[in-house]
Amino acid sequence: MNPTEVLSFTDGLGIDGEVVTLHEAPPHETSPRDRVRVEATGQPAQRTTRSVLISGGSRGIGAAIATTFTSTGHRVANLSRSGGGTVEGCLDVACDVTEAESVKLAVKQAVAEHGPVEVLVANAGITDDKLLLRMDEASFSHVLDTNLTSAFRLVKAVSGPMLRNRWGRIILISSVVATSGSAGQANYAASKAGLIGFARSLAREFGPRGVTVNVIAPGFIDTEMTADLTDDRRSSVLESIPLNRTGTPHDVAAAVEFLTSDAGAYITGAVIPVDGGLGMGH
Ligand SMILES: NC(=O)c1ccc[n+]([C@@H]2O[C@H](COP(=O)([O-])OP(=O)(O)OC[C@H]3O[C@@H](n4cnc5c(N)ncnc54)[C@H](OP(=O)(O)O)[C@@H]3O)[C@@H](O)[C@H]2O)c1
Repeated sequence: MNPTEVLSFTDGLGIDGEVVTLHEAPPHETSPRDRVRVEATGQPAQRTTRSVLISGGSRGIGAAIATTFTSTGHRVANLSRSGGGTVEGCLDVACDVTEAESVKLAVKQAVAEHGPVEVLVANAGITDDKLLLRMDEASFSHVLDTNLTSAFRLVKAVSGPMLRNRWGRIILISSVVATSGSAGQANYAASKAGLIGFARSLAREFGPRGVTVNVIAPGFIDTEMTADLTDDRRSSVLESIPLNRTGTPHDVAAAVEFLTSDAGAYITGAVIPVDGGLGMGH
């Protein structure tokens, strides 16, 4: 393949002299699993289905996102350490997002099965809550590695073909605490805030090539991650939520679906709250 275009990052973006050579996009192949929908008019309408990669899709929010995409005919690869999921129709891949080689292999497997990744949802995340005086560096680094550096690894692994094909959707799952802060969650909040700066930088780099990069900031969502909270803590959070209920994984999945749809095509660099109003003002 002959290099046809050169994208230079030397124009004041702070990456010294790095030049990325882009190649002509391969012809887009329609997957045999693409579905043809017959509209009420009787006219068949071709529906574009996508190759979707979700990290942390084995349960909770990631599983709801995976369900949303598979139920609309998209090809979904679901990454998690356990490699097992509850969502039918996904390609479940064992992958530890803290290991660069594991991420590369998982993406390779997804691409071999589904074609180049067109939609990335970096969702895998952990908490390790402690007050700062009790938090050691290992805890801080592990949470940063799992929640933030993993997004770097995933984006690096999938973004080349997105840029060449001039179409892509990248969504990073952050948290309301990224901007509000949260006592006992300095490691977690730092990782989630980092995702915002990361996403907005990429939105600027990738926008000219048709790749949008957005952040979703969920509030209190009922999953295993929040299952251990005491009743007291839960009711004090509830008091701060104007919509007076906790969120469901499907509330978050709906926002992801919107951002990846044609209706969300003009949104990039945004931080979309899905928090019942919990984070207003931050
Ligand atoms: N629940 C909430 O209230 C809430 C609020 C704001 C933001 N969020 C964010 O939303 C995302 C999903 O949260 P959730 O509530 O659905 O959490 P969850 O139920 O604990 O699920 C976490 C997912 O991440 C995977 N995972 C964790 N570490 C991993 C690793 N090193 N490599 C690969 N996969 C890994 C887990 O699978 P394995 O254990 O099999 O690896 C699981 O699939 C997280 O980023 C979280 O920070 C959640």
